[in-house]
Amino acid sequence: MSALEKYRDKWREVPGGDDTDGRVFSTGLLGLPDEEFLATWNGMAERRASGAMAWFGPLYRDFFAGKRILEIGSGAGVDGIPMAALGAHWTFADIVPTNLETIRRVASLKGIEATFHLIGEDLSFDALTAGYDAILVVGSIHHVPYDIARREALNALRLLKVGGRWIELVYPRERWIREGSMSFDKWGERTDGVRTPWVEWYGMEKIRQRLHPATFKTVLDFDLRSRDQRWVDLEYLGMGRDTRKFVEIPGPVIFEAGERDGLNFTGPKGAFHPIARVDLIPFVDALTGPYEIDVVVAVKHGVIGIGLTDEENNHLPDSELVLDSSPDTQTLTLRFAGRPKHLVFRNRHEDRQSNFTIQHITLREAA
Ligand SMILES: C[S@@+](CC[C@H](N)C(=O)[O-])C[C@H]1O[C@@H](n2cnc3c(N)ncnc32)[C@H](O)[C@@H]1O
Repeated sequence: MSALEKYRDKWREVPGGDDTDGRVFSTGLLGLPDEEFLATWNGMAERRASGAMAWFGPLYRDFFAGKRILEIGSGAGVDGIPMAALGAHWTFADIVPTNLETIRRVASLKGIEATFHLIGEDLSFDALTAGYDAILVVGSIHHVPYDIARREALNALRLLKVGGRWIELVYPRERWIREGSMSFDKWGERTDGVRTPWVEWYGMEKIRQRLHPATFKTVLDFDLRSRDQRWVDLEYLGMGRDTRKFVEIPGPVIFEAGERDGLNFTGPKGAFHPIARVDLIPFVDALTGPYEIDVVVAVKHGVIGIGLTDEENNHLPDSELVLDSSPDTQTLTLRFAGRPKHLVFRNRHEDRQSNFTIQHITLREAA
């Protein structure tokens, strides 16, 4: 069986409009006579445009008009066709031939011009002409495992202009936790119905990591539908340093308060109580700034903050990321343009102790 086969098999079914409208098989749609086919599709597009995604048209139609947009995982085309009708030069790309056939037939019946690309096993987009102004990914490549999605995303990114946009709808980690922290091969059935082979959570950092070494500026990053979905819109700044030096920081960790067992810490109550810190100075000198610090940490109880101090050892409140306890190990990235002195772990709950294990700290040159 080819690597994409099971995903192709599932995704012959596409959203029937709004999220509450269930799924429609593109093969079923294609079996309808023209008039019924178009009426069914128009109904789906109307429900989409007036449902939970109603903001999408007003937000993007002027920006997309006259521009070249590549949509990866275009389903039945309910987002792209209305934009193409308003003057966007749209390319529909998908792994399922009948989904693309559906859109091709809609476009032809409506007299709309568009480009189509069937994504093959090589996950290549090379058949398309580079120079796209935006790549739109609405709930699609999160349905294949991270390594496949990364290869596919980086292939597509070669077509994006510097200054263009990477726009994506994903399911956030909070939802994965709320729905039971299940393995990604099980979670898909819960989020997208029977036979869904995979769905994986993403947030801003994980999207950036998946597209590394490309660099981006955040344009939008917001929750949708009570944090069931997240919308991320990034401006592409170009490829960053691909030979970035990094150091794995073995410690030593300076212990401040609470209890310590190796790299497991129990921090005392208090919203700003320092628990432990790491002296970064010996490591910073080996690299060229600006810097990024990846911290892999498991927070079992309470709430902790992980932040930086500057060269004078002043705490930088803007650098601090606050983490709740959770069932999984979390990776977070701190960024600082200057020379950081200490990486600081603090308790961040007035009435609760915290317990956490530091698993890994990597200081790297930012892209
Ligand atoms: C949940 S549907 C979303 C469709 C459309 N974006 C929408 O919001 O209505 C997922 C779509 O992504 C496609 N898809 C799944 N995995 C993909 C991948 N790795 N690359 C491109 N498309 C993919 C499916 O064939 C399907 O059309």
